[in-house]
Amino acid sequence: MSRSILITGATRGLGQHLAQHFAARGYRLALTGRDEQALQALAHQLEGQAAQVITAVLDVVDTDAIPGVLEHCAEELKGLDIVVANAGIAIAARGGKGHWQDMRKTIEVNVLGAMATAEAAIALFRRQGHGQLVGITSVAAMRGLPGQGAYCASKAALSRFLQSLRCETLRENIVITELAPGFIDTELNRGMPSRPFVVPAEKGTKIMADMIEKEVAFRFVPGWPWALMGRLLPILPNRIVAGL
Ligand SMILES: NC(=O)c1ccc[n+]([C@@H]2O[C@H](COP(=O)([O-])OP(=O)(O)OC[C@H]3O[C@@H](n4cnc5c(N)ncnc54)[C@H](OP(=O)(O)O)[C@@H]3O)[C@@H](O)[C@H]2O)c1
Repeated sequence: MSRSILITGATRGLGQHLAQHFAARGYRLALTGRDEQALQALAHQLEGQAAQVITAVLDVVDTDAIPGVLEHCAEELKGLDIVVANAGIAIAARGGKGHWQDMRKTIEVNVLGAMATAEAAIALFRRQGHGQLVGITSVAAMRGLPGQGAYCASKAALSRFLQSLRCETLRENIVITELAPGFIDTELNRGMPSRPFVVPAEKGTKIMADMIEKEVAFRFVPGWPWALMGRLLPILPNRIVAGL
């Protein structure tokens, strides 16, 4: 039987492109997100290619709803091989400038939403006896950047959570994959003043889909130049980072 994959935040951006790649590779898909119409439109578009497509409305801020949605999708698809905790937001917010609600929302979606997705996925994988959890962090997890404190903190928190899960599941048939993109062209970063080394979404998500199929533990995406930049960022002096 073909493999199955559930994606959170599949309505736009990386989630939508990943869905297209996995549909073309013959997967059974569970598309989840907040916008039911967008999910239906994507499902309709992918029906001819994917082995099966189902949709489920899911706002990851509603963490109590996540286990039920994963269970439902697993039942419909007769198991979930891969769960991608992709849903995320990035709101520019400098400290002490009245952006607390944006910062709080960033943590709710990127940390609590992704952790709750991971938690439900691992529980499901243990019952199934196998599974792969994919978390989408960021190069921004490597270093606090000006104007992105909450986003950097959220991705660093998710990265550490995934590391812990990788240790905890080491002797089980469970794979934990962390993908840390640099800049991939989506609405998330189109308003940013600068997007160094940005790559088209089609190209970036093909690399991501390949890395997921290879069951890597961690990769920067794309590898060049972010594998180098990701390691340089933490050691750059504050006066240089402040000017970025
Ligand atoms: N693009 C990049 O360069 C880049 C770099 C590093 C990391 N990332 C990470 O990659 C992931 C996807 O980003 P993207 O570039 O595809 O962003 P995007 O184009 O803005 O799309 C974000 C997706 O997440 C969904 N979403 C937002 N809040 C949600 C919630 N509460 N519940 C469920 N879905 C929600 C959005 O759905 P709605 O339509 O309902 O808002 C949308 O489908 C994020 O975690 C982001 O931090 C992206």
